Amino acid sequence: MKGTGREFMEKTKFQYLDPSDQYLGLPQPSLERSTPGESIDLPSPDTCPRRRIDLTEAIATRQSVRTYSRSPLSLSELGYLLWCTQGVRGVEGTAWTFRTVPSAGARHALETFLLVNRVEGLDPGLYRYAALDHRLVTVDAGPEVVPEVTAACLAQSMVPESAVTFLWSADIYRMNWRYGERGYRYVFIEAGHACQNLYLAAEAVGCGVCAIGAFDDDILNALLGLDGRDWFVLYLATVGKIS
Ligand SMILES: Cc1cc2nc3c(=O)[nH]c(=O)nc-3n(C[C@H](O)[C@H](O)[C@H](O)COP(=O)(O)O)c2cc1C
Repeated sequence: MKGTGREFMEKTKFQYLDPSDQYLGLPQPSLERSTPGESIDLPSPDTCPRRRIDLTEAIATRQSVRTYSRSPLSLSELGYLLWCTQGVRGVEGTAWTFRTVPSAGARHALETFLLVNRVEGLDPGLYRYAALDHRLVTVDAGPEVVPEVTAACLAQSMVPESAVTFLWSADIYRMNWRYGERGYRYVFIEAGHACQNLYLAAEAVGCGVCAIGAFDDDILNALLGLDGRDWFVLYLATVGKIS
């Protein structure tokens, strides 16, 4: 609806915010969602073989890559990329985490899902990254999930061609508990941080990345089992070995 974006920007200005739930003394939500599924440990990011790259060069040469080779990613490379985008580098009890990307108030409301096509040791399908323990959790999805996610991404061909697609979602109350309605702004900004790290880190493991902002929210949320209100998809990026 025309004007919705402008209204969002206006109404999320500081002067209109209600006292947050944190201010009102309500309990803090948990640092991470827990979902049912099989748990798969990921190799430590330190052990991932990678090319040493100069940061300035990586920034200067970064570009979106939409065609990939058929080579799979190793589980170690996938673990490395997940760590670079959401890895936990410190935990303060149940209060907050510090990660490889910044987060407003260290709220870290992002939850990362993966659509796996070609990763050694993983069946194709959907997974969630449990960042606190650096492991994956399977997400129950049928065999049709790859074409379904592709269709939800408006049939963009890099989704089925990629080795893996990252899907960043927001567990919005983790952010809103502290920042109220303004938290909606922050989760989108933070997805950008995660995606930029993915673009840069991919260069170290011979991969290319393409961000995806064009998708059908309702279909994608339903495929991931998200309600679309408290927990919803924000942003995606495909990853694959460079041809
Ligand atoms: C928020 C955002 C959404 C994007 N969505 C898509 C998309 O849905 N499909 C696509 O092919 N590229 C998408 N891109 C990639 C842009 O098209 C790309 O960054 C732009 O053309 C500049 O090219 P470069 O990344 O190679 O510098 C997106 C990029 C951003 C930052």
